[in-house]
Amino acid sequence: MSTTRLLTSITLAALVGLQCVPSVVGHVSIFHPSMYGFNVTDKTFPYDNRPVSPLINYTFAQWWFHGHLDFPPNDGDIFELPAGQPATTELACNKGATSFFASSEGGDIRTKNPNDVCPNSGTDSYHTRGFDDLTGCALAIAYKSDAKQVQPEDFTVFSVNQTCVWTRFTDFQVPARMPPCPEGGCTCAWLWIHSPDSGGEQNYMNGFKCNITGATSTVPLAAPKVARRCGSDSMNGKWHAAPGNCTYGAKQPLYWFQAERNNMFEGTYAPPFYTDLYEFRDGAQDDIFEDSYSFLPDPSPTAPLPILNTTAGTSSSPARRRSASMRRHRKNRGIVNDDAGFDDSSLPLMASLPVLNTTAGTSSVRHRSASRRRHWKRGLSY
Ligand SMILES: *[C@@H]1O[C@H](CO)[C@@H](O)[C@H](O)[C@H]1NC(C)=O
Ligand SMILES: *[C@@H]1O[C@H](CO)[C@@H](O)[C@H](O)[C@H]1NC(C)=O
Ligand SMILES: *[C@@H]1O[C@H](CO)[C@@H](O)[C@H](O)[C@H]1NC(C)=O
Ligand SMILES: *[C@@H]1O[C@H](CO)[C@@H](O)[C@H](O)[C@H]1NC(C)=O
Ligand SMILES: *[C@@H]1O[C@H](CO)[C@@H](O)[C@H](O)[C@H]1NC(C)=O
Ligand SMILES: *[C@@H]1O[C@H](CO)[C@@H](O)[C@H](O)[C@H]1NC(C)=O
Ligand SMILES: *[C@@H]1O[C@H](CO)[C@@H](O)[C@H](O)[C@H]1NC(C)=O
Repeated sequence: MSTTRLLTSITLAALVGLQCVPSVVGHVSIFHPSMYGFNVTDKTFPYDNRPVSPLINYTFAQWWFHGHLDFPPNDGDIFELPAGQPATTELACNKGATSFFASSEGGDIRTKNPNDVCPNSGTDSYHTRGFDDLTGCALAIAYKSDAKQVQPEDFTVFSVNQTCVWTRFTDFQVPARMPPCPEGGCTCAWLWIHSPDSGGEQNYMNGFKCNITGATSTVPLAAPKVARRCGSDSMNGKWHAAPGNCTYGAKQPLYWFQAERNNMFEGTYAPPFYTDLYEFRDGAQDDIFEDSYSFLPDPSPTAPLPILNTTAGTSSSPARRRSASMRRHRKNRGIVNDDAGFDDSSLPLMASLPVLNTTAGTSSVRHRSASRRRHWKRGLSY
């Protein structure tokens, strides 16, 4: 056996050894004292119901808030969400890998890399094959302070990070127009569905108490609707986006793969994601308010596109514009909605068409209709 092979075997053995330690390996959760189930361990329930445990084929009581509604945070522990600014969360496969290690049964397992999601494990332990294989995660909010009153239809996704869960410290941009929460605060959830390439089909949900700070608007959120699959999806043989088919504006989280109360019914190998595939743009969801659209038709593959209400101050924030390299990554992954890009400058066909000045606050949704016209011109149908 060569030295390299020997070393590889030793490394593998070490990794396999570590994978046997149940508290280290596995899945991901948000961690914060404001969460429900902050101190739940693998012994608290008859089955392993730690916050990081995946939710698969569960009853509603089991998956909703991870079954942790009776494990509320201490009074005063609340996650602050500053309107118009990023909020930094900690995502990890073990509480010991976060700033809150002190109350973790295994103690501090952090490494020198502050962004280590899962110390001493490969990326497969948080269900990704690499940066190209990330499928995004989301924060949702309900304007109710009593979590037990919150129903699945009450949650609106207000922020998405499409490169989640690559780093422990993960930023979520909070829309500038978030209205203030009721007395006692709001109820929030972190949600994630990972790529089918790296492990079984699972849904993730953890609830926490939250509060909007620095609010400047009082316009309420619109009633959230169910998201629809509308981006291009080459992994599943769909080469073109169907922009008319998207749900625009306020959307509920993706409730998938449980025994009860799903709102997504996609198959095992075509999970729904918090990406352009379901019109969940990277960053703040700035179009979720009651006045966000002046025209919002019912979605269908042939529906006309909605028009943003520019008077309401909805504009595409820089965070929502994907960088060219990000765009390439998503494209490789096959989940970029090619026809709905905020950064259409990379599409050569756009050159002959007028380009709106987005700095001037012109709606990006209307921008998209230009690229849609281009497709009509080329005789492609949706
Ligand atoms: C879900 O659980 C039910 C009842 O326990 C079982 O009959 C069914 O096969 C399970 N489905 C999946 C997809 O695991
Ligand atoms: C979690 O455990 C720590 C350490 O025992 C304790 O200080 C804290 O109050 C607990 N939090 C909750 C919400 O139970
Ligand atoms: C996602 O989180 C990473 C890590 O914190 C951050 O660099 C990135 O800006 C975030 N993306 C968005 C759209 O906020
Ligand atoms: C939420 O934030 C607002 C604005 O800062 C504050 O007035 C209110 O007391 C906070 N509510 C809670 C429950 O912390
Ligand atoms: C439109 O959305 C529905 C619901 O998500 C989906 O089943 C259908 O495949 C989508 N059609 C197209 C053409 O994208
Ligand atoms: C557009 O937004 C403004 C400001 O909130 C509001 O007064 C107006 O009613 C909105 N228009 C529509 C069609 O919703
Ligand atoms: C775009 O709009 C901004 C704000 O009105 C203006 O300053 C800028 O000159 C415009 N750019 C072009 C190319 O017209």
